[in-house]
Amino acid sequence: MNQIDERESRMDKGAEEQTLLENGGFKGGTAPGVPPVTAKGGAPAYFSCWDIHAYYGESYIVQGVSFDIREGEIVALLGRNGAGKTSTLRAIARLDDPALKHGEIWLDHKPLHSMRAHEASRNGIGLVPEDRRIIQGLTVEENLTLAQIAPPIGWSIERIYELFPRLGERREQEGTTLSGGEQQMLAISRALARDVKLLLLDEPYEGLAPVIVQEIERTLEEIKSHGMTTIIVEQNAIAALHLADRAIILDMGKVVFDGLAKEVLDNADLRQQYLAI
Ligand SMILES: Nc1ncnc2c1ncn2[C@@H]1O[C@H](COP(=O)(O)OP(=O)(O)OP(=O)(O)O)[C@@H](O)[C@H]1O
Ligand SMILES: [Mg+2]
Repeated sequence: MNQIDERESRMDKGAEEQTLLENGGFKGGTAPGVPPVTAKGGAPAYFSCWDIHAYYGESYIVQGVSFDIREGEIVALLGRNGAGKTSTLRAIARLDDPALKHGEIWLDHKPLHSMRAHEASRNGIGLVPEDRRIIQGLTVEENLTLAQIAPPIGWSIERIYELFPRLGERREQEGTTLSGGEQQMLAISRALARDVKLLLLDEPYEGLAPVIVQEIERTLEEIKSHGMTTIIVEQNAIAALHLADRAIILDMGKVVFDGLAKEVLDNADLRQQYLAI
């Protein structure tokens, strides 16, 4: 096994395992090939999920979730612990678990519901999971280079270092020895290094000091100014709502609110009822 193969194989087991271990395929619901649903107001949505139902074995978790996202929007996906936020992101990214049993998922006119995870990834889904998945034994720069081993390629490594100068300064450092905040920056950068159309961030602020959270928030604002469409799941709902244009609240696997982020910030009853804040 040469060095690249070896790294690739390590990558398969680590950061990209989600894209490679799929048995995937659409197992029910409406047949692929149906035109995308339209956003409210009639314009075609950039991203839509429509009536998605997903299961871990017999456990019925994502119970008919539907929403649309316009290109360039940031959507905060919120809800209490166990509401189904991570499961919804995983279903969108077409991971094996939870298994999508019904519904449609469209991104930029492509039917993700009929794809396996690695195909969804090639078609623009960039999932940054909660555990960040930095590849062990590789430097910062090698982590980024690996993300660009196959097309479609997104941001150049130099452009990423402009966005995150701390990563540039630490390009020779082993990725797993970075601080929590720096690891989050690297995880986001790995997604940007590919040509991501929809960035899925699962609790990017988790375990980070407020000052680092602010730094990552500023970067996400900047990524947004470049037009990146993003779903952010966060326990720190207030921070996510300040960043987001829209908010979707899940409760027991169902959407209970879909509207402007500002409406949630202004509505204490809603926050109390579904977010306990
Ligand atoms: N692999 C799994 N097998 C079985 N049930 C699971 C699995 N993963 C999650 N669940 C269940 O699915 C439900 C939703 O979990 P999920 O992780 O999507 O919630 P969440 O909204 O992301 O919560 P948190 O805010 O705690 O991260 C929970 O009841 C959880 O126990
Ligand atoms: Mg979660």
